[in-house]
Amino acid sequence: MATRSATDSGTGVFSRGRARIADRTLRTDRWWVPPLATVLGLAAFVIYATVRAFVRTAYWVPDYHYLTPFYSPCISTSCAPGASHFGHWVGALPSWIPLGFLALPFLLLFRLTCYYYRKAYYRSVWFSPPACAVAEPHAKYTGETKLPLIIQNAHRYFFYIAVIVSLVNTYDAIMAFHGKTGGFGFGLGNIILVANVILLWAYTLSCHSCRHIAGGRLKHFSAHPVRYWFWTQVSKLNTRHMTLAWTTLGTLALTDFYVMLVASGTLTDLRFVN
Ligand code: FES
Repeated sequence: MATRSATDSGTGVFSRGRARIADRTLRTDRWWVPPLATVLGLAAFVIYATVRAFVRTAYWVPDYHYLTPFYSPCISTSCAPGASHFGHWVGALPSWIPLGFLALPFLLLFRLTCYYYRKAYYRSVWFSPPACAVAEPHAKYTGETKLPLIIQNAHRYFFYIAVIVSLVNTYDAIMAFHGKTGGFGFGLGNIILVANVILLWAYTLSCHSCRHIAGGRLKHFSAHPVRYWFWTQVSKLNTRHMTLAWTTLGTLALTDFYVMLVASGTLTDLRFVN
């Protein structure tokens, strides 16, 4: 792609003073495999989640109170009876508005502005650049200083909302310990819901903004032992942020898929208690 002249007034690889190399890259390995795998993985999740968010079927298991995270919190009168753990805040919604509309946009923005996902889609979707030592096709680079990318700087605020949504998901998981005839119940669905919530917390707390909130701007850790302890814990999680980003995409889809199978009657929940 580096067919433009190095005398162009562009930036990046097209800026003045950069070596004039006609080939887009001199790499001979299969550098395109990781970005391709990334875009396929992200696309698979986005397509699945979008379809599931709009179908409005098989998202709630009334017998065991399993609620898929894609529909939580469900605050519309359009929600299935019993699925609204926090009551009805709005009336019936047209079919083009997902029932999980309160949380979904913020969760999407939380992930879209995540430092790891930025790296992933800047490379895989935006080709900016697609890989190390592979020229990007863009003639200009303005970074995250202009719309729309300046929104990336709001990531820390989406983090706060993600914490609230994680609390909501935690409440849903606790409410799901419900037996078919009432009282306490416990089945395979509970294990899946709880595992998903634990991993969502791990992903959320491993956020770079969380790490900064915990230990940033401190001059003396010794004067803030609690924040220092919290910072060391989230720093350990932070080293696994990419793994957690992918793992939670998988557990979110798996949790929703399991709830869908049980709610639709395709699968019977494996019950250990009641
Ligand atoms: Fe990834 Fe904040 S950096 S969620």
